[in-house]
Amino acid sequence: MANDYASVMSRKGEIMKKSVGIDFAKYESGSIAFDYEKMMSETGYTLEEIQKIQGAVHVGNTPIIELRNLTALARKYAKKGYGARIFVKDEASNPSGSFKARRAAVSVYHAKKHGYKGVISATSGNYGAAVASQAAMLGLKCIVVQECYDSKGRGQPEIIEKARKCEALGAEVVQLSVGPELFYKFLLLLEETGYFNASLYTPFSIAGIETLGAEISAQFRAKFGRDPDMVVATNAGGGNVTGTARGLIKAGAKTPVVGASVSLAGLHMASDGQFNKKSFTTGHTGFGIPFSSWPDRSDVPRSAARPLRYMERYVTVAQGSVFYLTEALASLEGLEKGPAGNTSLAAAFALAQDLPEDKMILVQETEYTGAGKHVQPQLSFAKSNGIEVRFGDPKDEVPGKNLILPANPGLIKTADVDMNHIRASLIKTAVKTMLPADKTPTEKDIAFLAEETRANEAFVKEVLKAVE
Ligand SMILES: Cc1ncc(COP(=O)(O)O)c(C=O)c1O
Repeated sequence: MANDYASVMSRKGEIMKKSVGIDFAKYESGSIAFDYEKMMSETGYTLEEIQKIQGAVHVGNTPIIELRNLTALARKYAKKGYGARIFVKDEASNPSGSFKARRAAVSVYHAKKHGYKGVISATSGNYGAAVASQAAMLGLKCIVVQECYDSKGRGQPEIIEKARKCEALGAEVVQLSVGPELFYKFLLLLEETGYFNASLYTPFSIAGIETLGAEISAQFRAKFGRDPDMVVATNAGGGNVTGTARGLIKAGAKTPVVGASVSLAGLHMASDGQFNKKSFTTGHTGFGIPFSSWPDRSDVPRSAARPLRYMERYVTVAQGSVFYLTEALASLEGLEKGPAGNTSLAAAFALAQDLPEDKMILVQETEYTGAGKHVQPQLSFAKSNGIEVRFGDPKDEVPGKNLILPANPGLIKTADVDMNHIRASLIKTAVKTMLPADKTPTEKDIAFLAEETRANEAFVKEVLKAVE
C-alpha cells in the first residue's frame, strides 16, 4: 500500500473503523443530524458497568476537599453575604494523576476485551500517561504520538514532562514537531500495528467521565443532602464538560456546568513560531473555542464530546491568574496541583464571589503536578521566549506578549465567552460540511441543531436564514 500523505489520508475512514470498531455511518441521517444518544448507548457501556471497570483498576471514587482558606480569601473581595463555599474533587488521586484515567480505563478495557494487542493515542497531554498506565495494568502495548517540538527542537516544559511520564509508564513515545504530520503518523501506526485507537472522543472515553459527574452528586448528597449549586470544569476538547454533565444528569442532578479555559486569544496553536509562546498546553481557548464550535474536528468521524450541549456558561481566565491560584492553593491549602485543574479553580475563585455564602461551588478536578508543570519552569520558559512577566491587572494580559500575575487576588476575574456566537458558528459549519449541496436542512436537522447548541429552534432558524 502507498504510504504517502494523500494515500494514507484517503484510507482514513477504513483505518478508523478497524481501529475503534464502531461503524459511525449507522448513526447518520444522510443530512446534518445524527443520532448522538443512540451512538452513546449502543457503543458504550452503562454507568454501572463502567463503575465496575474503573473500580477494578483503582480509577474513580476520588475525594472531595473543601477549600476553606481560599473561600475565606474570596469572601474578602465579595460583597457582604457573598462568596460561595469552594470545593475541589481531587482527581489527581487517580493512578495516572488526572481524570483522564477515567477515559483511558474504558478504552483500554474495551481494547483488551476485543483482542487488540495494544493501544495508540495521539495526545500531548495527560491522556497519554493515562492510557500508558491503564495499558500497563492490563498488559497491553502502548504507543503515544505527541506533538512536542517546534522546528528548532524546543519543547514546552509541560509537554516534555508528559512525554517523560508516558515513557516511565512503559509507553513508546513518538515525538513529533508541530504540524499536520501528527495525524498522518497516527493513522500509519494504527494501520501498521492493528492496535486499538484509544481516542479521546469515542463513546467509551466520554462514558468513562460520566462516573465523575455521578460521583459528585452522590458525594454531595451523602454529605450535604443536596447537589452542588455550580460545577466548574476546565474545557479543551470538550470531553471533560460533556462526560461530567452527562453523569450529573444521569444522577438526576440539575446543577449547572460552567466551562472554563485559559484565554490564549490571538495565539495560533498550529503555528511553529507561536507553539512555544503559550504557558498552558491544554484547558485553553486554542482547543476550547474550536472544539465547542465544531466538535467533529477530532480523530473520529463523530465526536462523543459535544460540550455546547452541556455548558450553561463558558468563561475564560488569564494565564497569570491561574499561576497565582496555583501558588495560593499550595500556600493556603497545602495542596500542590497542576495547571489544567487550577484553570477552573481560578474561574471558581471569581465566580464564587457572585454567589451567596450558603451556596456551594465545585471545581470538578485537580491534576498532578511535576517538574515541567510547575509555575517556575513555565515562567522561565516564557521569559526565554521573550514574554514579559510582571505583576499588574490581568485584564492587560496579551497572550504571547506578556504574562500578568495579579497585583492582588481581587483582580482575578472571568470573562464570559459569547455563547450565541459559538452557537451560530456551529450551525454554519454544520450546513457547510454536512449538508449535501442540493439539499436544505430538514425538520430533524433543525431539532438536532437546537440540541447541539442548547438553543431553541427559533434561534437555529434565524441563523439558517442568514446562511441562505
Ligand atoms: C487535567 C486536564 N483537565 C482538563 C482537560 C480538558 O479536558 P477536555 O479536553 O476533555 O475538554 C484536560 C485535557 O487535556 C486535562 O488533561
